[in-house]
Amino acid sequence: MDRWVNRVALVTGASSGIGKALANFLASSGLKVVACARNVDKIDAMPNIVPYKCDLKNKHEIEDMFKFIESKMGGVDVCVANAGTNTTPKLLDGNYNDFKELLNLNILALTYCTQLSIKSMRERNVDDGQIIMMSSTSAHRIGSNRFYSVTKHAVKAVQEGFRQELRELGSHIRVCGISPGIVETPLTRPCMESLSSSKWRTWPTP
Ligand SMILES: NC(=O)c1ccc[n+]([C@@H]2O[C@H](COP(=O)([O-])OP(=O)(O)OC[C@H]3O[C@@H](n4cnc5c(N)ncnc54)[C@H](OP(=O)(O)O)[C@@H]3O)[C@@H](O)[C@H]2O)c1
Repeated sequence: MDRWVNRVALVTGASSGIGKALANFLASSGLKVVACARNVDKIDAMPNIVPYKCDLKNKHEIEDMFKFIESKMGGVDVCVANAGTNTTPKLLDGNYNDFKELLNLNILALTYCTQLSIKSMRERNVDDGQIIMMSSTSAHRIGSNRFYSVTKHAVKAVQEGFRQELRELGSHIRVCGISPGIVETPLTRPCMESLSSSKWRTWPTP
């Protein structure tokens, strides 16, 4: 991790679960971390962590966050596009607005944060930047939360798409995805609790 000391990382969804753990890890490894969420009061106060309140479903708030990072921190060197949710509308009778919310956060916000991070890197001739997209095992199969699986399959396509476009440009900025299985966080706790009290043995899809 030595080469990343004092570099700037943006972690979305840093007030809870996986994002919070990653933000804390990166900060304790010496990176300057912009920790983004709506509930900034839940972000751990640590040296090297700069909490930033942003609703990622709002394009203008994303743009303001990148302006803040540019002016106050220099720009993004690492982007962990982690924020996501798994409200689980059924395909057959799911609510239109629930579909839209999931698309906005899990795909659009992740894509736009990635695009703006890469712009920031390229404007500053940062050729060793790193994008990390939080995907899921649901990107590799269709689990019981089917519309969530749709969004995570899309994350896989977005990841590969950015990778190909950067390669066409001869850029060395790297794009990767992480596909966790089930991790106990506020996102999955209700599923895990209902599973432990249920006769069903089907593992919920993270
Ligand atoms: N937990 C698992 O088993 C699992 C498995 C595979 C993949 N994943 C993926 O890992 C990522 C994190 O999951 P998690 O389990 O850590 O979830 P979590 O504990 O519920 O955390 C979600 C984070 O996203 C933020 N967020 C939600 N809506 C937002 C919005 N509109 N604007 C800004 N931030 C927003 C939340 O912050 P605020 O509410 O404060 O805004 C929170 O910090 C997700 O992409 C999820 O799909 C999780």
